[in-house]
Amino acid sequence: MTETSTLLSPLLRPTTLAGVPLTSRFVMAAMTRSRSPGGVPTPEVAAYYRRRAENGIGLIVTEGVLVGHPSAGHETAVPRMTAGPAERGWRRVTGEVHAADGRIAAQLWHVGSAREAVDGIAAWTPSGVPRGTHAMTLADIDVLLAAYADAARVAVRAGFDAVEIHAAHGYLLDEFLWPHTNRRTDRYGGSPAARAAFPAEVVRAVRAAIPAGMPIIVRFSQFKERDYAARIAESPAELAVLLGALAEAGADALHASQRHFADPAFPGSPRNLAGWARHLTGLPAITVGSVGLTRDFLGSPMLRTLVERLDAGDFDLVALGRVLLGNPAWVRLAAAGRLDEIRDYRKSDEDTYF
Ligand SMILES: Cc1cc2nc3c(=O)[nH]c(=O)nc-3n(C[C@H](O)[C@H](O)[C@H](O)COP(=O)(O)O)c2cc1C
Repeated sequence: MTETSTLLSPLLRPTTLAGVPLTSRFVMAAMTRSRSPGGVPTPEVAAYYRRRAENGIGLIVTEGVLVGHPSAGHETAVPRMTAGPAERGWRRVTGEVHAADGRIAAQLWHVGSAREAVDGIAAWTPSGVPRGTHAMTLADIDVLLAAYADAARVAVRAGFDAVEIHAAHGYLLDEFLWPHTNRRTDRYGGSPAARAAFPAEVVRAVRAAIPAGMPIIVRFSQFKERDYAARIAESPAELAVLLGALAEAGADALHASQRHFADPAFPGSPRNLAGWARHLTGLPAITVGSVGLTRDFLGSPMLRTLVERLDAGDFDLVALGRVLLGNPAWVRLAAAGRLDEIRDYRKSDEDTYF
């Protein structure tokens, strides 16, 4: 055993997430790839995920998959979670991942304000921010709750092991959580509890649509893709209210999205966002952010920090994003100490697909 593989060993042991057995504590984070023409995942998509599953990833989270409402997104090569050809495409994906002893969660996505106004449909947002978007009515809220529930039912039929609800990065559910984009004065806006009400209803609707034992992961973040300094919670107390509502509604795990996993979430404590999520709710937490981006990481104090925080109970699982684009076998190679075969992440990896 090399020093790196010894250090990594707590991450390489089998575990469970809300009752689902996983071969390791490594998760593949959701990454939009836009390789599903007409919203239908192809055999190449299935092979792409299988390759990560057979190389040590315990849980794959799919790229964001649009729920079946026209407001959810406009890009035609982003996959859908709808009955028919897309469902059959996903069935192939889950079959391939399971054949490699992997587990896979479907990330359900509504892009909110990021939808471009094609097909004459304006972006749906909590309160018409930014200008030119459609402020959702109470009827719209019901329409989307039904769309999330439908998508979750499709995910069950397609063989997924879990569902991840995307409530991060400035997309629709996060736009409800964030006061800057949620200016509603009804029960869906104002206090932290009210801002969490719609995301919590989505969790409840999904919970009611899927088998009791199937985990729901909720992904959240402070930062927005277009505003890295933005925050949904100014204090742990505020975060406790937001996450408490999601937990109460039936979330089984929280995926705390950060750009760098070691960054403290609030002043006065080194605890990261996943650490706070776990501490405040008692739910299992997934951390993410700049893990393993360069080969040096594996010989650096950062790896030690990651493992120490896992040992300390700050989080249960560790998600990898960009490094897996160019290194489908990152976990297996790192575990074997075969660092020479690992490539550093570079931006152009985002144009590759294998
Ligand atoms: C090309 C690309 C696409 C992404 N798409 C999604 C997405 O669909 N859903 C999501 O929640 N996060 C998405 N993310 C964020 C990643 O899941 C992850 O949180 C981020 O890359 C940080 O992890 P890393 O430093 O290990 O890459 C995306 C990131 C990249 C680079």
